Amino acid sequence: MSQSSFGEALNEQVANEFAAHQQYVAIAVHYDAETLPRLAAFFYRQAVEERNHAMMITQYLLDADLDVRTPGVDAPEVGFADIVTPVELALAQEYQDVAGMFRYAVETERRFYLANEVDVQVEHEGGQKFFRLTLNDAWVWDMYRPARFVTNVRVLTFRDVNIEELAGTGL
Ligand SMILES: [Fe+2]
Repeated sequence: MSQSSFGEALNEQVANEFAAHQQYVAIAVHYDAETLPRLAAFFYRQAVEERNHAMMITQYLLDADLDVRTPGVDAPEVGFADIVTPVELALAQEYQDVAGMFRYAVETERRFYLANEVDVQVEHEGGQKFFRLTLNDAWVWDMYRPARFVTNVRVLTFRDVNIEELAGTGL
C-alpha cells in the first residue's frame, strides 16, 4: 500500500459518493413517508448508483495498490418542508459534481445548460429575429429528467440567450 495525492483525492471522491448515497436514501425515505412511491423509487435507484460509484473507485484503489480509507460521511439533510425541496437539493448536488466537466454555462428563457460546445446562429423570419442554439455534450438543469446528460440539444428561441465561459477549465 502507498500514499499519493491522487489516491487521497480518490478517497475523498469515495466520501462524496457515499454522502450522495446517504442523501438520496434520505430523500427517498421522505417521499416514501409522503406516499409518493414513484419519486421514492427514483431516489432509491439513484442511491444505489452512487453507492456503485463509490465501490468502483474503491475497487480501483485496491487494484492500483493505493490506500483505501472507506471514509465516513456527514449526516444527510432530512426533514424537508415540501416535496420539491429534496429534488432541488439532489439537482444542486449533481450540478456541483458535474460543473467542472463543462466549458460553458448557457441560459435560455426556459432552461439552464452546461455544455462543451455551443453554437448560436441569429436568424430572421417574417420580420422576427430568433436564435438557433446548438449544444453538444451537454447537461440540462431539469428536475424531472432521469438522464440529464445529453449529446445534442437544439433550441429555437425569440428571447435572449446568455452564454458564459466557465472559469477553471484550464483551456
Ligand atoms: Fe456519483
